[in-house]
Amino acid sequence: MAIERTLSIIKPDAVAKNVIGKIISRFETNGLKIVEAKMLTLSRELAEGFYAEHKGRPFFEDLVKFMTSGPVVVQVLEGENAIAKNRELMGATNPQEAAEGTIRADFADTIDANAVHGSDSPTSAEREVNYFFGG
Ligand code: TYD
Ligand code: MG
Repeated sequence: MAIERTLSIIKPDAVAKNVIGKIISRFETNGLKIVEAKMLTLSRELAEGFYAEHKGRPFFEDLVKFMTSGPVVVQVLEGENAIAKNRELMGATNPQEAAEGTIRADFADTIDANAVHGSDSPTSAEREVNYFFGG
C-alpha cells in the first residue's frame, strides 16, 4: 500500500464544540500523521472555490455559509492509504448514517454541520492539498 497525503478540515461546528484534540487524536492513533496544519476562518471566496464541484446544488449556499461561520482547522494527513483511511474514520456524510465509532457519528449532529471534511480520491486530495498548502 502506498503512503498518501489527504486533506482534512475540522469544520466550524467541531471547533465550536471544543473537540479539535479528540478528532486529531483519532487520526494519530490510526496511523495518520499531521504533516501540515493551520487554523483560519474561510472567506466566502475560499469556501466557494474549495467546494466548486458542488456549485449549483441545492445545499451549496448553506454549505458556504456554514463553512465561513467560524474558524476551521485545515490539515494534511499522511500515512498508508491515507485517503480511504480518513474517509473510513470520518464515517458517512449524514451522521445519522455514519457507522458507530466514526468521527461523524460521535461529533456531528446534522448532514450540513458534520464535523469534518476529507478528500474523497487521489485527484481531489492533490487538488485540495494544493488549494490550502500549495507554494
Ligand atoms: P459531499 O462531498 O457529498 O460529502 P462529504 O463531505 O462526505 O465528502 O458534500 C460536501 C458537504 O456538503 C457535506 O459534507 C455536507 C454538505 N451537504 C449537505 O449539506 N447536504 C447534502 O445533501 C449533501 C450531499 C452535502
Ligand atoms: Mg466530498
